[in-house]
Amino acid sequence: MTDRLRLTVLGAGYLGITHAACMASLGFDVLGVDTDPGKVAALNAGRLPIHEPGLDELVRAGRDGGRLEFTTSYQRAAAFGDVHFVCAGTPPQRASDRADLSQVQACIATLAPLLDRPCLIAGKSTVPVGTARRLAAELAAVRGDAELAWNPEFLREGSAVADTLAPDRIVAGVTSRRAEATLRQVYAQPLAAGTPFFATGLETAELAKVAANSFLATKISFINAMAELCEATGGDVGALARILGADPRIGSAFLRPGLGFGGGCLPKDIRAFVAWAEDIKGGEALGFLREVDAINLRRRARTADLASELIGPDLAGLPVCVLGAAFKPGSDDVRDSPALDVAQILHGMGAQVTVYDPVAVPNARRSCPELRYATTMTEAAQHAQLVLLLTEWSEFAGLSPDRLSDVVARRNIIDARNVLDPVVWRAAGWNYRALGVAAGPADVGTSHGGATHQG
Ligand code: UGA
Repeated sequence: MTDRLRLTVLGAGYLGITHAACMASLGFDVLGVDTDPGKVAALNAGRLPIHEPGLDELVRAGRDGGRLEFTTSYQRAAAFGDVHFVCAGTPPQRASDRADLSQVQACIATLAPLLDRPCLIAGKSTVPVGTARRLAAELAAVRGDAELAWNPEFLREGSAVADTLAPDRIVAGVTSRRAEATLRQVYAQPLAAGTPFFATGLETAELAKVAANSFLATKISFINAMAELCEATGGDVGALARILGADPRIGSAFLRPGLGFGGGCLPKDIRAFVAWAEDIKGGEALGFLREVDAINLRRRARTADLASELIGPDLAGLPVCVLGAAFKPGSDDVRDSPALDVAQILHGMGAQVTVYDPVAVPNARRSCPELRYATTMTEAAQHAQLVLLLTEWSEFAGLSPDRLSDVVARRNIIDARNVLDPVVWRAAGWNYRALGVAAGPADVGTSHGGATHQG
């Protein structure tokens, strides 16, 4: 290997594009590889297939500085790289919750026979425990001088660039000191800035990723289970979360109550973890994750129930405004989006649903063409019987009722992310409902009713 490592990144999805651009910004020469020629051409022209704050600037800077290029050629990748990062997706299999590893396997199987010198292949994708050891054995059978490590990624969509450049921790699942030294060389800059580095075996590294996502999902579902109890008893889950979060042993992060988690990671990772545990006869250890999943999905059903409470059991033909389609703010990702799921449930109940999202409408339209979409918030809210805030974009969180009061047909709002001030909205004549908060005095007796816009 040369002193100045050359890196390839296999798979140009959220993870791969971010990793490639960030490594280039750290000064490495990086070749990104994807089998989709259209995506590769767009990336080389500086156009990104995803919305991620700060990423397009980084890709353009890498391209302009000559440190970053994308290709479809594994031949070029094999000749180029000292370290090959595998960033392929691991979606659920069609007929089960197990992870579909075909893309990860294809990356390594395509690359391995083309390698002509010692190198390190570092997997970053989220995989079931045991995958790395199996892939390492398969790799050794093809190329004895290529080594496999597992280096899981903990970045969050919406803050992916910052998370990659200044991670909380770096985990290196390795089977040799040489592999550890190579990864330390790759991450020299964050390590110098104080990022903790954990060198472990392959299995611990794989577990670190799914265990972290499972814990985060559990925290969210815990507070949402408390929200159910608050709804039943008249408690306020927002206040409860603040009280719990003030205990440093609990902490307030990932304790935001509301519509729950979605996206391309947490839901599929906890399900794949459970499926994997059952396969190794360890299902009992992860039985609680089924409940975590169930609590999470119940929030969506509860939101639809609240809609019925506000505007009547028969939603047929009623205009409803949905604010938010992305699974979280800062992202255009609609995979397993709680917001879109609720929009679809309401559509299924007969409502005439119009969705507005600052960036995710094109993806939402592709995945849910049956819904209506608006280009502004006020357009979406025209004549609405009910407004639902389902993704906490700052544009929505900072919303003043005046923006919508004269646009809607009836002043009913469900704040499913608990970000609006109920006092302000109620003072403006709105029926304000949130998850985990019992109806306010002003809302009592307004079921199926709601303040009517007087115009
Ligand atoms: C998650 C993890 O946070 C990352 O560490 C991990 O690398 C990533 O998955 C992955 O496996 O690739 P991400 O899915 O981008 O990152 O988003 P999160 O910030 O974790 O949010 C997930 C969901 O939980 C969102 O729908 C969000 O709205 C929801 N959430 C989050 C809550 O409902 N409450 C909270 O308190 C926090």
